[in-house]
Amino acid sequence: MSSLCVLLRKTRPLLHSLSPAMQKHHQYTLDVTASLVRTQSFVDGQWTSAASVFPVLDPATGEEIARVSDCGPAEAKRAVDAAYKAFHSWKQVTAKERSVLLRKWFDLMVLHREDLAKLITFESGKPIQEARGEITYSASFLDWFSEEARRVYGDIVPSPHRDRKILLLKQPVGVASIITPWNFPSAMITRKAAAALAAGCTVVVKPAEDTPLSALALAELADQAGIPAGVFNVVPCSREKTPSVGHVLCTDPLVAKISFTGSTATGKVLLRMAADTVKKASMELGGHAPFMVFDSADVDQAVTGAMGSKFRNSGQTCVCSNRFLVQSGIHDVFVERMGRAMDAELRLGHGSDPNTTQGPLINARAADKVAHQISDAVTQGARVVRGGKRLEGSFMEPTLLCDVTTDMLCTQEETFGPLLPVIRFNTEEEALAIANASNVGLAGYCFSQDVSQIWRVAEALETGIVGINEGLLSTPEATFGGVKQSGLGREGSKYGIEEYLDVKYMCFGGLKP
Ligand code: SIN
Repeated sequence: MSSLCVLLRKTRPLLHSLSPAMQKHHQYTLDVTASLVRTQSFVDGQWTSAASVFPVLDPATGEEIARVSDCGPAEAKRAVDAAYKAFHSWKQVTAKERSVLLRKWFDLMVLHREDLAKLITFESGKPIQEARGEITYSASFLDWFSEEARRVYGDIVPSPHRDRKILLLKQPVGVASIITPWNFPSAMITRKAAAALAAGCTVVVKPAEDTPLSALALAELADQAGIPAGVFNVVPCSREKTPSVGHVLCTDPLVAKISFTGSTATGKVLLRMAADTVKKASMELGGHAPFMVFDSADVDQAVTGAMGSKFRNSGQTCVCSNRFLVQSGIHDVFVERMGRAMDAELRLGHGSDPNTTQGPLINARAADKVAHQISDAVTQGARVVRGGKRLEGSFMEPTLLCDVTTDMLCTQEETFGPLLPVIRFNTEEEALAIANASNVGLAGYCFSQDVSQIWRVAEALETGIVGINEGLLSTPEATFGGVKQSGLGREGSKYGIEEYLDVKYMCFGGLKP
């Protein structure tokens, strides 16, 4: 088996909180099957170079791991044209055949799980165990939607007229532009693309500028699976070219649908662009999840839930808990056990070290934001129970704060990092008022053993997702999506495919009774 070996010659001096391997200037090696390391765009079934390239960096070391074609608006337009041409034949492929192809793609992802996970680790910093989990999660959308492809049922509706029949037929919307983030470089692509392809749509993917390698590896496997040319296209580009590529993908009249995962601010810009040609839009945007622990909660269950929900991907998920609301009677024991769990379970380091549970943040700016929230909170009276330090590069110590109030920045904006701020509350009403005082509403969590309280709180929470005595919720069988400014539409589940379908009303008239 051929392999590409990128030796990272040196790591920067790192601080005491990092794993010993990092401190010893360990060499980290990306050793992946060569055919999976693709660096050109994939358009109309062809690998094509752009006029220039941009570097992909390992966020743990700052070292360059690859140079990738830097596509511009011309390449984006070519991809849209190719997807449009392919749409006319792909929509005619039977649902059964589309299902079989998605399933082959799934099998190939499973076969190459380890290599795909390494790509995620090196380009995003995600610890290898979690990266493996992401590949399983990512592949599960191909599996799920390979099955859903065959269940796109229309309706025959009772007609009010004896001479007419009413048919509601579901049809694919057309070309979908898919714009994805760096925090799940693989799963956020398959969650959208699998639904789109299952419905009979074709796609153009613009992966995040930090993590194009996972997207291009997916294209390689789609090609190997026999997905026809033009059905799945990938146009990587740099931060500089992103606005012009995004503009084509959101304004070209041949694009019927945009699907975006990322910040609320960017989502609004894309929606404005898509408005001119009245495209359908799915938006999976920012969150600010409340994590509520009531006096009756099983404290160990709450701590386990908090560890998963807060520190998954070093706090860089849209559903990560952002505000910990803990009732007075259980507050001290929760904080104490939380601190102990952090000591026991969290180990900072390079993601390829199997002992690492906390990788770097995606870049230094992201770590600076967390450090700024901590210093703002401490200045206003919060107490640091664990961590608190900004480390070398883009590393940040996992941090537990208590005595946090709603005046502090960390309770007003999404952190996207390993900061766990605890606010003490007394009554359920008070907790719900704090939890719902946000213009976004993606996920919320409630820990309680009181069934009536669970129902009251789960119904009252203004979020699209609620975890009840559970911190890890994501699965292809369930919906993913938010309310308020957390977005539009739902991904995954039986509803995910609907985002790529139009309903056509067919009226059969003049029938002889
Ligand atoms: C996200 O952070 O946007 C996705 C997280 C998930 O799918 O669990």
